[in-house]
Amino acid sequence: MSETIQAIRGMNDVLPDEAPVWEFFEDTVRAWLQRYGYRQIRLPIVEKTELFVRSIGEVTDIVEKEMYTFTDRLNGESLTLRPEGTAACVRAALQHNLLYGGGQRLWYAGPMFRHERPQKGRYRQFHQVGVEALGYAGPDVDAEHMIMTARLWRDLGLDDVVLELNSLGSAEARTRYRARLVQYFERHAADLDEDSKRRMTTNPLRVLDSKNPAMQPIVEAAPQLLDDLDTESATHFDDVRRLLGHAGVPYRINPRLVRGLDYYNRTVFEWVTTRLGAQGTVCAGGRYDGLVTQIGGKAAPACGFAMGVERLIALVADSGRRIDAVPPDVYVVWSGNGTEAHAWKTAEALRDRGGRVVLHAGGGSFKSQMKRADASGAVYAVVIGEDEVASGDISIKPLREEASQQRLGVEAFADRYLKKNSGGI
Ligand code: HAM
Repeated sequence: MSETIQAIRGMNDVLPDEAPVWEFFEDTVRAWLQRYGYRQIRLPIVEKTELFVRSIGEVTDIVEKEMYTFTDRLNGESLTLRPEGTAACVRAALQHNLLYGGGQRLWYAGPMFRHERPQKGRYRQFHQVGVEALGYAGPDVDAEHMIMTARLWRDLGLDDVVLELNSLGSAEARTRYRARLVQYFERHAADLDEDSKRRMTTNPLRVLDSKNPAMQPIVEAAPQLLDDLDTESATHFDDVRRLLGHAGVPYRINPRLVRGLDYYNRTVFEWVTTRLGAQGTVCAGGRYDGLVTQIGGKAAPACGFAMGVERLIALVADSGRRIDAVPPDVYVVWSGNGTEAHAWKTAEALRDRGGRVVLHAGGGSFKSQMKRADASGAVYAVVIGEDEVASGDISIKPLREEASQQRLGVEAFADRYLKKNSGGI
């Protein structure tokens, strides 16, 4: 026998036992987004490489070393598995003129791909739910995004996710700050690690994001962007903070929060937890007013965020909340001459009435079929033998309580028991 083929490292299967938590998460997220008036957009998984280089930035970890890029066999075009959703969302909005009539509140969900070193909470294929408000300039949308995520944590039953907030100011303020930072790092060049030395000239803000403990004293003492914000960004930031205050959403200012993608300006934020070890950021985003023009559109402000689904699922699964799979209502067991047609018809008739029905497959004795029925978690076994064929009705055996078997017509059973057990199907 040949060796079984394994999944690619960092790309996970979600097994049936894990699926109920994913379904709970997806249902909760969908209902939450509807409550805030966000509409879904579905985007391709593959885009032109250029889209990500132009938007995320050439000197970022993602573009420099994490993208799954390949050449289209037919036309030689460079294509990339999407590492994130914002760039494609903006591309689609421009391509289909969605901003023509004003702002758009959009969301998307699906797999993203980054060739990172896999570890707990960090995968090569992972899932995001992303939210983008395109065409809105005011601080109200920034605040809405943080306030709505705070509600989602409540809906999911998570109470230890903390909001970190910063402002990157305007592009001009950032250029000024960049120059100050380079001067500062030049004074400390001897103490910089190799990565930071390279970054110092290409993308000095990213040095602040260094995870190297040896770099921390230099990073801590670096000049702060918040001290040198342009007036408009400072007002914008104050307004965001005031709105968060009204909503009672606590936050911590983190002047070193710079984000790993280049398209941000003004508000940036991250929701973090200490429960996941090193990969504690479960949701992150901010304002990106320059991206629409960068991708080739007429200038439009924008703001958004994305959450890491695997990380949130891990928190939900770990929170002690019980999320069980929905069991079948009925498991149909059948054996004997002429029972096949009655069994199939019964199963379909019960499904017509909204029942969740498993029809036994694979034959076997009543005894072995009943074992399967029990293991399925079904509430009732419906038993069909030659007697039931003769009388045209079915036998019902409750599987989750001590009660005797009874004979009923299919409709009488559905009326009396299915509605009660399936929560009004
Ligand atoms: P990001 O910070 O790169 O931002 O990713 C957002 C979230 O995705 C992270 O906070 C994390 O929870 C999750 N994530 C990222 N990489 C991985 C990974 N390798 N494995 C598991 N989870 C991961 C963005 O992607 C921006 N597009 C967010 C945004 C939307 N900004 C504005 N709009």
